[in-house]
Amino acid sequence: MLEAREGNKVATNNLNYADMIEHERLPRHIAIIMDGNGRWARKRLMPRTMGHRAGINSIRRVVEACVDIGIPVLTVFAFSTENWKRPLDEVDYLMKLLVEFLHKELKALDENNIRISILGNYELLPDKCKIEIAEAVQITQDNSGMSFNIALNYGSRSEILEAVRCLAKEIAKGEISAEDITEEHFSSLLYTKGLPDPDLLIRTAGEMRLSNFLLWQIAYTELWVTDLMWPDFSREELLKAIWEFQQRDRRFGGLGR
Ligand code: IPE
Ligand code: IPE
Ligand code: MG
Repeated sequence: MLEAREGNKVATNNLNYADMIEHERLPRHIAIIMDGNGRWARKRLMPRTMGHRAGINSIRRVVEACVDIGIPVLTVFAFSTENWKRPLDEVDYLMKLLVEFLHKELKALDENNIRISILGNYELLPDKCKIEIAEAVQITQDNSGMSFNIALNYGSRSEILEAVRCLAKEIAKGEISAEDITEEHFSSLLYTKGLPDPDLLIRTAGEMRLSNFLLWQIAYTELWVTDLMWPDFSREELLKAIWEFQQRDRRFGGLGR
């Protein structure tokens, strides 16, 4: 996967988004809530697990497209702290798929100079996952291309609470005072330390909610929701999202353009 594909421009609804995108104004960070695997499978009378498997191909496609386009940071929401509520079989399958994905794709990801990071507490994942993750993170840590973040056992509230605990300890030890708590310092205590905040958040499968994803980081992110289920999400749909993002007037509370 992930070979450069020059000239791969596809027209969607007669609009060629690949040609329409302004490459000087790309989002620096795209975050994606990959939703709808179960519904995709149900529509085809398949088990939910098959939807998750089909969703892996979309991850591959999107990573490849982001590398081609030149997106500096891509974050995907793969497993939330709330997803433990699902049946054990499904959770096991998702963990198995993660191991399989990293195992199969690590070489290609590394060859494409991609740096893999995990957002979330992966210490609580099964040993097999931890081993695969540690290898992927370690092998790609010095890569200077796209940062590819996989949010795994990630929940924004628990991330924020962890940062608050850390601040409380720093104050208790006398290392900082309450006045030293700036937005920058707080941000540096989150899993996304050092990364720009997402410019664009994409959610598939039509749900209009954030599901505990990057609540601090998306304060001024542009939101874009598609009705497509995650396994149907394509390169063209990504290009469309980027183009629509570029049409927005980001005012940040000011008066805009
Ligand atoms: C997203 O698809 C994948 C994960 C949350 C792991 P879902 O499994 O949530 O699919 P739906 O929302 O039930 O269709
Ligand atoms: C959000 O999807 C979590 C991931 C994509 C990993 P969910 O399917 O878990 O979200 P809800 O339950 O619809 O809010
Ligand atoms: Mg869902």
